[in-house]
Amino acid sequence: MRIVLVGPPGAGKGTQAAYLAQNLSIPHISTGDLFRANISQGTDLGKQARSYMDAGQLVPDEVTIGMAKDRMSQPDAVDGFLLDGFPRNVGQAEALDGILRNESVKLDAVLDLEVPEDEVVKRIAGRRICRNDSAHVFHVTYNQPKTEGVCDACGGELYQRDDDSEETVRTRLEVYHTETEPIIDYYRAQGLVVTISALGKVTDVTERAMEALEKSD
Ligand code: AP5
Ligand code: ZN
Repeated sequence: MRIVLVGPPGAGKGTQAAYLAQNLSIPHISTGDLFRANISQGTDLGKQARSYMDAGQLVPDEVTIGMAKDRMSQPDAVDGFLLDGFPRNVGQAEALDGILRNESVKLDAVLDLEVPEDEVVKRIAGRRICRNDSAHVFHVTYNQPKTEGVCDACGGELYQRDDDSEETVRTRLEVYHTETEPIIDYYRAQGLVVTISALGKVTDVTERAMEALEKSD
């Protein structure tokens, strides 16, 4: 399956993507995680992305589309993938359509996670991620690690993301409304959008998502 996950910052895209990718046996491709890995490795791409991310703005399309395309062309993504955080504006959605057309394949669904803004703010304020892998995500009250400050998956140190400050979160939410939300209409016109509530327990949301994806087949 080829799936795009959309939803505001803090909706739980990364959290759900980890389970969905495993259930569906497809790779989880997060452009945010790819940027953060590049930043921690000190690559040129990481240096280009950092100032935009710290400000809560989108990294320019020239950088992002190339990176996403490279990742999608890896052998593990030939038969499907779950995209998390890409596309994030209509230009990127059009670029993705072009990439898929070249391979003569199509998206199966766009899963839209709906969460009210006050909940998103609480989720982001308590989020802690792992130094070793930003896909290892916890929350100080909703999704606690077994040992405080330590990643359950790999033992790495947990920390708060630089772009999770209150001011940057406000910018990220604005950018989501102005630049990313329009892709939902773009995909609705293609009949691909399935919307679910992302409120409630993580496992309940995963179950809801799996059911919605099965129905969309
Ligand atoms: P990115 O990393 O994609 O961030 P985001 O979209 O802002 O999303 P988040 O990672 O904040 O949230 P999430 O929905 O994954 O929630 P999570 O599962 O962690 O992007 C970061 C930056 O990179 C962008 O601002 C931009 O600069 C750049 N970038 C990335 N992609 C780009 C692109 N395509 N183009 C241009 N720039 C790009 O959950 C949040 C918290 O809630 C966690 O603590 C979790 O434990 C908790 N939680 C999850 N589910 C539940 C639940 N059901 N109940 C209670 N708590 C829950
Ligand atoms: Zn970890």
